[in-house]
Amino acid sequence: MKLANRISRVPPYPFVEISRKIAAKKAEGIDVISFGIGDPDIPTPDFVVDALREAALAPPNHRYPESDGLPEFKQAVADWYQRRFGVALDAGREVMSLIGAKEGIGHAALCFVEPGDMALVPDPGYPVYAVGTMFAGGESYFMPLRRDNGFLPDLDAIPADVATRATVMWLNYPNNPTGAIAERDFFQKAIEFARRHDVVIMHDACYTEVAYDGYRPISFLEVEGAKDVGVEFHSLSKSYNMTGWRLGMAVGNADIIDGLMVVKSNLDSGVPQAIQQMGMAAMAKPTESVDERNEVYKRRRDVLCDALKSIGLEVEPPKASLYVWAPVPEGYNSAGFAEAVLEGCDIVVSPGSSYGENGEGYIRLSITLSDADLNRAVHRLTSWKIPEPAAAVRQS
Ligand SMILES: Cc1ncc(COP(=O)(O)O)c(C=O)c1O
Repeated sequence: MKLANRISRVPPYPFVEISRKIAAKKAEGIDVISFGIGDPDIPTPDFVVDALREAALAPPNHRYPESDGLPEFKQAVADWYQRRFGVALDAGREVMSLIGAKEGIGHAALCFVEPGDMALVPDPGYPVYAVGTMFAGGESYFMPLRRDNGFLPDLDAIPADVATRATVMWLNYPNNPTGAIAERDFFQKAIEFARRHDVVIMHDACYTEVAYDGYRPISFLEVEGAKDVGVEFHSLSKSYNMTGWRLGMAVGNADIIDGLMVVKSNLDSGVPQAIQQMGMAAMAKPTESVDERNEVYKRRRDVLCDALKSIGLEVEPPKASLYVWAPVPEGYNSAGFAEAVLEGCDIVVSPGSSYGENGEGYIRLSITLSDADLNRAVHRLTSWKIPEPAAAVRQS
C-alpha cells in the first residue's frame, strides 16, 4: 500500500502528542491536570440543547441538509453579524454554514491555492492553515508573530517575490495561540496589501466572543473594503461552548463563498439541520450566557496568570481568547519546559514550538478546565521550584 506523499508530510497534530503523554501518566494512576486543549469545559447552554431536542423530532431534519446551510440559519448569522458587529450581509450570497470552522478552513485552500502558489500563514498559528495549503499543493510562507510587534505579522517584511506568488493570507484575531488582538488599523493595512498583491484574506474570527474586561473584539468585515478582498470564518464552538456539535460559518465576499461552496458541495453534505437550529437558538438570544461564561474565564485567567507570575514567568493576561501565552524561563526551550512542568507538577501545557518555529520560547495554557482542577494546578505550580534546565533542554 502506498500512502500519498501529502499524508507523510503532515507534522503530528500537536494535541496527539499531548494526549499520548496524558494517557501514559494516567495509566500509571497519576492525576494529570491539562491546560492543553482549548475545548470549553462549560456545557452548551440549556436553551440551546432544548432547541436540539425539539429539532430532533422534526422529520425534515432527518433528511440530507443543503450543503450551504438552511436559509433560516444563514439569515440568523446575517442578523447576528448586524447586531454584534454592525456588518450587513446578504444571507443568500454572503453566508454559508460549515461543519465547524476547521472544516471550512481546511477546504478553503482548495479554492485559492494551486501547485506553485503560496499562502501567507501566521507563525505561530492554528495548524490547519498550513496543512490545508499543503494538501492543495501550495507552499506556506510563515509570517512571524513576535511579541515586539504585538503578535501581528509585519506585512512590510514580506519579500516581494513571496507577495507576488501569494494567493491567500490567513489571519486570526483574537489569536490562537498568542491571545493577541488586532485593531482596525492593522486590518486596514492587510486590506491594502491584499489589493496591491491580489491576495484573498481569510480571517479566522473564532474567538471574538471570548473577551474580558469590557473589551469587544472587532470583525475584519467591519473595516472598509474587507468584503472586496476576503471572508471571515466564525464558529459557534467557542462563542456558545458548542465544540461537540460542529457548527461554524464563512461570511463575506460572495465570489469566495461561491468557490467554497463548489468544494464543499462536492465533498460533504452540509451541517445536520437540527444542529443549525441549535445555532439559530444560540444566536437569537441576548448575550447574558456569553457574558456570564466570560466572567468565569476571566477569573480563571487572573488566577492562572498570578500563579505563573509568582513562579517567575512574564505573562500578560490576554484581553481575549482562551489562551495564556507565557515565555519560558531563561535556559529552557518550549518542549523542555513543558516536559519539566509535566514531570514536576503532573500538569500538561502545550509547547509553543508546536504552533510553528516562532512559537519557540513559549508555552500555551488553555483556561478550559474546571475551577477545581485549576485550583489544584495552581497549588502544584506555586509549590514547585523550577529545576535548573538540563543541558538537553537548554536553548541553543
Ligand atoms: C484559531 C482557530 N480556528 C478554528 C478552530 C476550529 O473551530 P471549530 O470548532 O469551529 O472547527 C479553532 C479551534 O480550536 C481555532 O483555535
